[in-house]
Amino acid sequence: MRGGVETSLAELAARVRRRAEGHSGRFLLGIAGPPGAGKSTLARGIRDELNLAAGAAIAEVAPMDGFHLTNAQLRAAGILDRKGEPDTFDTAGYLAQLRAIRDTAPGIPVSWPTYDRAIHEPVPGGVVVDRQTIVITEGNYLLLDDRAHPAWSAVRVLLDETWYLDVPRPIIEQRLLRRHIRGGRTPEAARTKVVQSDLRNAVLVESTRARADLVLRKAGRGYRID
Ligand SMILES: Nc1ncnc2c1ncn2[C@@H]1O[C@H](COP(=O)(O)OP(=O)(O)OP(=O)(O)O)[C@@H](O)[C@H]1O
Ligand SMILES: [Mg+2]
Repeated sequence: MRGGVETSLAELAARVRRRAEGHSGRFLLGIAGPPGAGKSTLARGIRDELNLAAGAAIAEVAPMDGFHLTNAQLRAAGILDRKGEPDTFDTAGYLAQLRAIRDTAPGIPVSWPTYDRAIHEPVPGGVVVDRQTIVITEGNYLLLDDRAHPAWSAVRVLLDETWYLDVPRPIIEQRLLRRHIRGGRTPEAARTKVVQSDLRNAVLVESTRARADLVLRKAGRGYRID
């Protein structure tokens, strides 16, 4: 039998609510994990549970993905083929916006960019954080502490709690292959992208797991806390 404690999305959301209530100011939860782990799905699930239980919009998702550099910026820098790696994001912009979320009183709107998977570009102001007192930020590199990419190591201290969503490599591989093919790549091109880019990023992200406060895995209809 696998170790750990089974928990539901509702229980995880209740945990966030309890922590946020004992906290002064806005509460920032970070969800890290490799590409295709299900971070965005989990973040939206927690947000929706929190809002449903409260009967009000108390939580919002602020994705790290919104800070992808634009394709024009990546092309100009000659790194379009490496899109998704740590240096293909506006890390300084992400840090500044996390600080803005922390330092701005609820009720004063703060714009946050999202990422559009249909056009493969960031969308400025894709979401606005306003009265929400719980903000969930999610992405690959929240826990990165790597000399090659020093800026990312400043993220962790801006977050009140961090979770790592762990998924077996073969599952990630399958999900990413399917996603790239759905996105218009041939099966061969999808495999090349997964092997040469996504899985390399996954290995880097996996090295950050120990820095999380909580490690989660999908289990049945819920999650398991390792
Ligand atoms: N708990 C789950 N069970 C089964 N499939 C899931 C689960 N969570 C997510 N998925 C599927 O896995 C894929 C990736 O999910 P999602 O977009 O949430 O991952 P992500 O970690 O945000 O990925 P990325 O790093 O690329 O943004 C999606 O196709 C989604 O439908
Ligand atoms: Mg995502």
